[in-house]
Amino acid sequence: MTASVTVRVPAKVNVQLAVGPVRPDGFHDLANVFLAVGLHDEVTVRPADELRVTCEGPDAGQVPLDASNLAARAALALAARYGREANVHIHIAKDIPVAGGMAGGSADGAGALLACDALWGTGASREELLEICAELGSDVPFSLVGGAALGRGRGELLTPLETGGTFHWVFAVADGGLSTPAVYAECDRLRGAAEVPEPLASAALLDALRTGDAKALADAVSNDLQPAAVSLRPSLAATLAAGEEAGALAAMVSGSGPTTAFLTADPASADQVAQALHASGTCRAVRIASGPVKGATVLA
Ligand code: C5P
Repeated sequence: MTASVTVRVPAKVNVQLAVGPVRPDGFHDLANVFLAVGLHDEVTVRPADELRVTCEGPDAGQVPLDASNLAARAALALAARYGREANVHIHIAKDIPVAGGMAGGSADGAGALLACDALWGTGASREELLEICAELGSDVPFSLVGGAALGRGRGELLTPLETGGTFHWVFAVADGGLSTPAVYAECDRLRGAAEVPEPLASAALLDALRTGDAKALADAVSNDLQPAAVSLRPSLAATLAAGEEAGALAAMVSGSGPTTAFLTADPASADQVAQALHASGTCRAVRIASGPVKGATVLA
């Protein structure tokens, strides 16, 4: 019997996040261009008497260990589908910023799903796993798939995208998290009665990804949630300005924030921007990561 299974799963940055009007179900239709980047959580599952979740890492204290954890929900969803008990100990080695707009919780959901699937030998198809991911959350399917992808619907309907190179990023981690529903609600509030166009992926952005052109990508990135994240956390403006001054090609809020993302030309510029952000005192921690990287992967 397999004693344990470990899955490595990446963080994401949204290079485009176009948000449509609020839908009757409370979600927003999106054109969401995801890029998986090289910050990873590792999720290990092993048989246990009952379902339990533990977490290690600098920010482990901020991770809920109850049934609200997406990793626990993933194990329960897969077990329910295959008519078995979710009796596993899930251990998360956390390196992705918590509640930061980098899909750390979604990563743990996708990681636990893949790990339990391997541990239990369910034989679930990729489509089935993606379906469960979509039930768990809008960003969870992308954590499974990785690479680069366009997410339509609420972000769960994925089309893989071609990329022609590696993009070098710096991430500034803010103090504390931001609630994703609160950021979407603030986006709606700021828009008021204004007409909101249908969200569409930018052709220039998809071209830039395809050709691996960082400068062109920098000119095309956009995040409709950024004004809302900055409205709820005004100090992010100083972080964004510090990265721009340090020579980042683009400075943006990552997803719903409060992590900010800085696209740079090459690894040397990434180091330079990281040092300047660190020295600016406008953030809690600075991380360097490049992408695309592959999605959730079972470690040998
Ligand atoms: O799907 P997920 O659980 O990650 O969504 C969290 C919250 O983010 C939703 O309850 C909703 O408030 C908001 N959201 C949204 N539109 C999306 C995705 C998320 O309004 N496309």
